[in-house]
Amino acid sequence: MKHNKQWLFVQAAAVSMVVLLLALPGICRGAEQNNGKTLIIVYSRTGKSMLVAQTLKTRLAADLLAIKDQKDRSGFLGYCSAGYDAFFDRHTQIEPQTADVSQYEHLIIVSPIWNWKLSTPIHTFLDRHRFDGKQVVMVTTGNNDIRKYEQYDDRAPFLKRFFRDYIRGKSKTVRSAVTAQGGYFLKHYHVETLDASDQEIVARADQHGARIVEDFSVSVAARQQRDAELLRIAGSR
Ligand SMILES: Cc1cc2nc3c(=O)[nH]c(=O)nc-3n(C[C@H](O)[C@H](O)[C@H](O)COP(=O)(O)O)c2cc1C
Repeated sequence: MKHNKQWLFVQAAAVSMVVLLLALPGICRGAEQNNGKTLIIVYSRTGKSMLVAQTLKTRLAADLLAIKDQKDRSGFLGYCSAGYDAFFDRHTQIEPQTADVSQYEHLIIVSPIWNWKLSTPIHTFLDRHRFDGKQVVMVTTGNNDIRKYEQYDDRAPFLKRFFRDYIRGKSKTVRSAVTAQGGYFLKHYHVETLDASDQEIVARADQHGARIVEDFSVSVAARQQRDAELLRIAGSR
């Protein structure tokens, strides 16, 4: 009888072990990844940022929300009004005015650069929405390579240092536009569009897309846990 009980116990322990081993990969994956949905929010004045957004949409099987500016931004006058509004951090009338982003865990915001800032319609959209608990990637398009001036150190001529620090400051503003609304800012990618063919723009966007897939493969919870652990280690030194 005693022998039987022991045998039963061994069998139950073995079954529990098998169940645990089978469940373990799923539990680990749950802690490190999520299969959340991705929304791409895009504004485009002349179609280049839209090309980037469409490429990312295909790569990430994402939904896409196109923001329209109610102000006419076409032609020379439209260019000037865009420059003016961006320079003075003004808002504009956008359509849709607001959007429900609650069902998405990942957001990709695609915007042209206007005067080294986000375009006015995207600036308006960001100021109107909360992104708590969401991972956000920013993708900008522009004439210039925004990292061009990063090669200069403090011995470089004044103008080169000036532009390096100016662009760094603008980059920080892009980041804080997201974090101020509760978003977890992951990365800022940039696509240079001056003199680039559509195929080149698509290829550049697709390269970023492959990296963004990796960026999104770790959950916010796992990132926060890692950040807290790093802070704890730094504090204990
Ligand atoms: C008002 C205005 C200001 C701009 N300022 C910049 C700038 O500071 N740096 C830059 O690299 N490109 C600048 N550009 C160029 C656009 O960012 C670039 O052409 C972009 O790829 C256009 O995207 P879209 O076709 O989606 O509108 C500016 C464009 C406009 C209309």
